[in-house]
Amino acid sequence: MKFYVDTADVEEIRELSETGLLDGVTTNPSLIAKSNRNVFEVLAEICDLVDGPVSGEVTATDRDGMVTEGRRLHEVSENVMVKVPLTWEGLKACRILNQAGIQVNVTLCFSANQAVLAAKAGATVVSPFVGRLDDIGQDGMALIHDIRLVFDNYQELSTEILVASIRHPMHVLEAAKIGADICTVPPQVLRALATHPLTDTGLEAFLEDWKKTGQNILGET
Ligand code: G3P
Repeated sequence: MKFYVDTADVEEIRELSETGLLDGVTTNPSLIAKSNRNVFEVLAEICDLVDGPVSGEVTATDRDGMVTEGRRLHEVSENVMVKVPLTWEGLKACRILNQAGIQVNVTLCFSANQAVLAAKAGATVVSPFVGRLDDIGQDGMALIHDIRLVFDNYQELSTEILVASIRHPMHVLEAAKIGADICTVPPQVLRALATHPLTDTGLEAFLEDWKKTGQNILGET
């Protein structure tokens, strides 16, 4: 499973990228707004830090506007994957950008039928939002299950499933069990994946016991 981090906070990305665990980054207009920074500067800095795809989202709503903005975003770096919404116009823009050799992330996906259309339009990845479905009392993970099932029925659909709107580690585990290709996770969720209370108490006990031996692995006293 690949891990992307879902943030436009460059310092967070710098810190997380040092682990070597980051396969990419996703941003959206809300995350750019939260960063209070220029979208081109942020994307350029992220691309310098991370080797994988970095999603930057268009804000036009018509096909030609999306294509023009997408090309402009892609000028920042080859790594920029252009994010378009799962609308009729977005699907048309996806096809054009894909044919121009630009990777496309089709976002705001809330049904398996939408995901199939994105795949047929040439999306590199499709982003179903699990948390936002859970928020309205629907089963976000059931959508991931359905998309996996449908994509596996048609080998010609090579679009990867990028699970988005992840809120907690259980979303990641469930997505992995289903066989989703990528999870884009907020930084705090990525960190939470590495923690367990028994790891903390276990380490504490080991270090206490070690102190009693009076030994030092580097040989100094
Ligand atoms: O980047 C798209 C998605 O991950 C947004 O998540 O938490 O705003 O629903 P959220």
